[in-house]
Amino acid sequence: MGIFYEESGRVFTLQTRHSTYQMKADGQGVLLHTYYGEKTDNTDLSCLIARGDRGFSGNPYSMGGTDRTYSLDTFPQEYSCFGTGDYRISALKVENADGSRAVSLRYAGHAISKGKYALPGLPAAYGTEEEAETLSVDLKDEESGVAVRLYYGVFEDLDVITRAAEITNGGEEGVTLLKAASLCLDWQTGEYDWITFHGRHAMERNFQRTGIVHGLQSIGSVRGASSHHYNPFVMVCGKNTGEEHGDCYGFSFVYSGEFLMEAEKDQMDQTRLICGIHPDDFAWKLEPGETFTVPEVLMAYSGEGQGGVSRIFHRLIRDHICRGQWKHSRRPVLINNWEGTYFDFTGDKLVDIAKDAAKLGIELFVMDDGWFGKRDSDNSGLGDWYPNEKKLGCTLKELGERITALGLRFGIWFEPECISIDSDLYRAHPEWAVAVPGRNPVLSRNQLILDFSRKDVQDYLIERISNVLGSAPITYVKWDFNRSICDKYSHALPADRQGEMAHRFVLGLYRVLETLTESFPEVLFEGCSGGGGRFDAGMLYYTPQIWCSDDTDAIERLQIQYGTSFGYPVSAMGAHVSAVPNHQTGRVTPLATRGCVAMAGTFGYELDLNKLTEEEKEEISRQISTFKELYDCIQYGDYYRLASPLSGSCTVWETAAPDASEALVSAVYHHVQANPVPVYVKLRGLSEDASYRVCLVGKTGETILSGAALMHGGLAIPPAKGDYCSWQIHLTRI
Ligand code: GLA
Repeated sequence: MGIFYEESGRVFTLQTRHSTYQMKADGQGVLLHTYYGEKTDNTDLSCLIARGDRGFSGNPYSMGGTDRTYSLDTFPQEYSCFGTGDYRISALKVENADGSRAVSLRYAGHAISKGKYALPGLPAAYGTEEEAETLSVDLKDEESGVAVRLYYGVFEDLDVITRAAEITNGGEEGVTLLKAASLCLDWQTGEYDWITFHGRHAMERNFQRTGIVHGLQSIGSVRGASSHHYNPFVMVCGKNTGEEHGDCYGFSFVYSGEFLMEAEKDQMDQTRLICGIHPDDFAWKLEPGETFTVPEVLMAYSGEGQGGVSRIFHRLIRDHICRGQWKHSRRPVLINNWEGTYFDFTGDKLVDIAKDAAKLGIELFVMDDGWFGKRDSDNSGLGDWYPNEKKLGCTLKELGERITALGLRFGIWFEPECISIDSDLYRAHPEWAVAVPGRNPVLSRNQLILDFSRKDVQDYLIERISNVLGSAPITYVKWDFNRSICDKYSHALPADRQGEMAHRFVLGLYRVLETLTESFPEVLFEGCSGGGGRFDAGMLYYTPQIWCSDDTDAIERLQIQYGTSFGYPVSAMGAHVSAVPNHQTGRVTPLATRGCVAMAGTFGYELDLNKLTEEEKEEISRQISTFKELYDCIQYGDYYRLASPLSGSCTVWETAAPDASEALVSAVYHHVQANPVPVYVKLRGLSEDASYRVCLVGKTGETILSGAALMHGGLAIPPAKGDYCSWQIHLTRI
């Protein structure tokens, strides 16, 4: 059992295997946050809250003005409110019917139950009654009637606590939510860094570690999607925390839309983190009796540094976010024709590639953009989800049958949330495109956004996509989204509800995905947004893998996949071997290295196999056999970042079977040196007292070394033999 309530002090202590989280409803009814970190007992830690007269930090009226040592401006709290004496960043901001913006929450009750709460219409971690427990704490603003139910899901074994909330207007007049965050977390003591992941199209999730200093620091997105530019996953860690040691916290927002993660160090050197829907373009009207559900944040603490937190998130996402029959079944090795042909293909051309693919051991053929409507470039056709039989030379069903006859699965690409102006759908329904009346909308990739906040649009897409999926032997869908949203306006919403559009769009997307994944359980959905522009735990609830980046250069991918690995497992990261010179960078890397890097994800190819030499095809066939042989170790192994791509000459990572029976070490020289400095790494996740057979994949010969020697002494990575050389080193316990 992980949730404890101590009645006399009104203290809630959430215990996981290695962490403790605590809050307390104090004498004023304020829900104080008293602790989150390394495991301790259930002692009421509110004794640590320092009190003192903090000038210009006011005192609640209910204290009668006599106790100047009590101020909401300095006390750590569970869900901070705007406008009533806490001047720090707030979780909740409300506009009341009289135009005032004050809200102040007090404890009103709680409930503890087995199992994990679910959120209507939103993705959330799930768990059985044996795996998780739920605490809900009710808070209320007496004046307005606004009631907040905070949810906590405790996954004791996993060291994970989740948070979400429901906000109900229990008053008699309408209120508008201006900010409704999912997480507010205060650290009373300590100096912290935070690690964020920034990027751009074709270079997502770059690691950045900076101190949390006095003032505000934030990352977020106002682009309608979580974005390439900042990922909704952050870590907060102590100054001395490293990859494998020290206090580290991770926070992952289970949401695919606009978000804000803010950190503030306050006047008393305390740190506050707030995370939730971005408030800039958010205003949600709540009529009396209505409830708004705030999306979920996943939290984890580890004393084993960033690596410890990453491994918790890998398990959490694999086992409690991803769903459906593909969650744990072997994902097929795929070939995608995008970089192979772009828009220039026919059905016969695709079948020719598929023939080679089948011979090499590839299991799934994916037909990318260009199979529908009038779509021979990215200037037209989006929205017309009818196969272009003239281009394919046959029906979709026939093409699917030709591919499946070769022993391959068949998959296709969609971009359901977008529309081309040059499309039959736009001509029939211009009002379905997102645009502000009287203004010309911004074009991006020459396309507009479809208003997914509208139910009629959602229903149309559900029907159209279902029709296509039902018409041919399709077992895979790549779900793309190739622009950011702006000019937000929905013809289906009144003027005073336009601030709901961005969130309603995401809810609409989730409804469409929920319906389709339920109706087509055998279909593997892969998310995509110009690569990794919507790589978040929300999407992973529907699509257990996401195309990591449109940058397929193996060396650039080292950095992208390194950053991605902090919050997401290998099984979530779409990674393909592509042609050289690489189409994005012009770089030439060995085929072996491209294979090695792509194997750190859901492995596949994205090139025209017909253009390869026989030797290259043989090498691909060997790569595929290696991947299939090591599949479990790669996809379900514990992941260790041993040497970073951001420094040194060689990037090294390891996946070790959870029972320590085998491990795969992958090393890629991103910088070849003359008279090179040797590269050593200390392995992790092995049994100290066991012996391991150490082999270079694809080479003969072996060395026997003990787990202790490999973990404490280390392993020497063979030197580079040329530019961008790589090694895969397989260890098996004897
Ligand atoms: C996006 C995707 C690519 C490809 C193209 C097709 O950029 O990320 O993989 O599917 O769209 O237009």
